[in-house]
Parts: sequence; structure tokens; C-alpha cells
Amino acid sequence: MSNKGVILTIFSVVSAITVLWLFFPPRISVSGELPSSEEALKRGEYLVVAGGCISCHRGQTEETNESLAGGLGIETEFGTFFAPNITPDATTGIGSWKAQDFVRALKHGRQPSGGFYFPSFPYRAYSKLTDEDLLSMAAYLMSLEPVVMRVSEPNTPPWLARWMVAGWNKLADLSGPPDEIYDDVLVARGAYLARHLGHCGECHTPRNVLGILDYSREFAGAELGDEIIEPIDGAALKEWTTNNFDIFLLLGLKPNGEFVGGDMNEVIEHNTSKLTDGDRDALAAFFTRHNSAGG
Ligand code: HEC
Ligand code: HEC
Repeated sequence: MSNKGVILTIFSVVSAITVLWLFFPPRISVSGELPSSEEALKRGEYLVVAGGCISCHRGQTEETNESLAGGLGIETEFGTFFAPNITPDATTGIGSWKAQDFVRALKHGRQPSGGFYFPSFPYRAYSKLTDEDLLSMAAYLMSLEPVVMRVSEPNTPPWLARWMVAGWNKLADLSGPPDEIYDDVLVARGAYLARHLGHCGECHTPRNVLGILDYSREFAGAELGDEIIEPIDGAALKEWTTNNFDIFLLLGLKPNGEFVGGDMNEVIEHNTSKLTDGDRDALAAFFTRHNSAGG
């Protein structure tokens, strides 16, 4: 073979491997049916609340407002992304989904067809959910009343296509969230809620120009559109006791006597105020773990 031939062959092989590496379907850890016990459904309901799904997936019409029928347009600098209908309607919702489809979507950001979701869906935060939590959530969603609601595809600039998220995911993989192991059970639970289920970092952690979270500055505050999102890292919360944090998560009341505003109000109302006392304590323990003054 000529030199040119060798180079071309190497180039084709490398390209093929790259394409496989980027687009290969994720390995899914579960198989079979969703759980159906009363206990799993109750647990799923709680986790869907704790996961803040309603903040984005709430129906946008008067009739669908109490449901997860979707339709909210999330505006970003990369376009407007519409939260889909996640009620079990067979044609406009997720009625036909299997256990594996939920894992593929929530943990890997992949559609049942293998296509890519845009990261306006915080699947990277959900990627570390336990399979048990995830399947309980899926079982609860499938037990809801189906709502017929067709939600639009995202409205993105012409240069942006779903397949490009393949590369974005790989770049984002290079710096995942800290994988610390905490000896304190409460702090460990708090870390799971903050980093994954409650996805606090999706708003509070700054992003680079590609919109990838910068975990070297985890919880250091960010800008979302024209909204300033305060830092909630160790330095920012130095003066907060765990008790302060508990009260904040329940009522939105800060230690300085002010109520929080903006999008955080939604998070308090639909999400953190509905947690069990134990889970609020866990979040408080996690966020104030650097404070020697503690509780
Ligand atoms: C910050 C807003 C936001 C939150 C919070 C959120 N989602 Fe989504 N979700 C989206 C968007 C936007 C999409 C669609 C992304 C796209 O079009 O690529 C989506 C897609 C989905 C899909 C795929 C549906 C389909 O028809 O393909 C499922 C399932 C889903 N979300 C479930 C959940 C669950 C369960 C939770 C809570 C644990 C949740 N989402 C929390 C914004 C959100
Ligand atoms: C949808 C985006 C969003 C999410 C998700 C979010 N926050 Fe916030 N948070 C905000 C915004 C915006 C503010 C500032 C509100 C204001 O201007 O008063 C804020 C403020 C705060 C403050 C007050 C900081 C200060 O010093 O005033 C704390 C504490 C806080 N958030 C904790 C959390 C925790 C814990 C979570 C996860 C359970 C969370 N946030 C998830 C948007 C978000």
C-alpha cells in the first residue's frame, strides 16, 4: 500500500471508531418490568416531587395545569426547548415506554429511538440516580392519568442538531460531579439529593461556553438569562447553620430575615418544602458540612 493508502486507512478506522464511540447505545443495567407495588408507587411519587419534575413538565393549559402534560418553553441561548408530555398517553406521552426506555432517557439522555435529548433536560444530574429510585419514579409516572397533549419539538438555530449532543456528552463526561464518599450518612444522602435528584447545580453551578457545568467551581453561582443565581458553596454559606438551611428549604426564609425570590421560589414551593424532615436535614447537613459551627 502507498503511504497515502496507509494514512487513508488509518483515518477511516479512527473515524469509524470515533463514530461508534460517540453514538453507541448506552449499556442499560435493568431489564424487565416496572415495579407495581403500592410501596414502589408511593416512593416514586415522593421522588418525582423531590426531583422537581413538575417545575418543567407542568401542563401549560388550564385543564392540564395539575398534570405533567408538559408544554413549557425553556428559553436558552441555544434555543427554546419544550418540556414533553410525560403522562402515559400512548401517542402524545410516554404510554408505550418500557423500564429500559426510562433508564436510557433519565440516565443517558437518549430517546427510545436512540436519538439524543438536549441537556435542557437535566439528565446529567439524574445519571447517578439509583435504579431502584428511577424505576419507582417511572412506575409512578405510568400510574398517572394519561393526558392528550402534543408538545412541539425544540426551536433551535439551524446549525444545532440532536446528534451534536453526542460530542457534548463526551466532553461533559470529562468532568463529572465530584465522586466523594462521605462517612456521615446524612451528608451522603444530602449529596445525592443536591447533586442528583434535586439537581441544585443545574442552576447554581457556573457553566463554560459550551454550557457544560464547571465542577471545579461547584455551587459557586451562575447567571441564568438575566437572573443572578447566588453561590451556595462553602464560602457563601459560611454563616448558615444547618437549622438556618432547614428553615430556608421549608419556607424560603434566609437567616437575614429576607425571603428568597426568582426561580428559587418555585424550587421551595414544589420541591424542597415537600421533602421529608429527614431529607431536608440531609440537604442542610451537606451544604453546611464545612461549617465548624455546624448545627
Ligand atoms: C429543567 C427542566 C426539567 C426538569 C427539572 C425535568 N425535565 Fe424532563 N425534560 C425536560 C426537557 C426540556 C425535555 C426534552 C428535551 C429535548 O427535547 O431534547 C425533557 C424530557 C424528558 C423525558 C423524555 C420524554 C419524551 O417524550 O421523550 C422524560 C421521560 C423526562 N423528561 C422525565 C423527567 C423526570 C422524571 C423528571 C424529574 C425527575 C424531569 N424530567 C425533570 C426538562 C426537564
Ligand atoms: C431553577 C433554578 C434553581 C434550582 C434548580 C435551584 N435554585 Fe437555589 N436559587 C435560584 C435562584 C435564581 C436564586 C436567587 C433567588 C433570588 O434572587 O432571591 C437561588 C437562591 C438560593 C439560595 C439563597 C442563597 C442566598 O445567599 O441568598 C439557596 C440557599 C439556594 N438557592 C439553595 C438551593 C438548593 C439547596 C437547591 C437544590 C435543592 C437549589 N437552590 C436549586 C435558582 C435555583
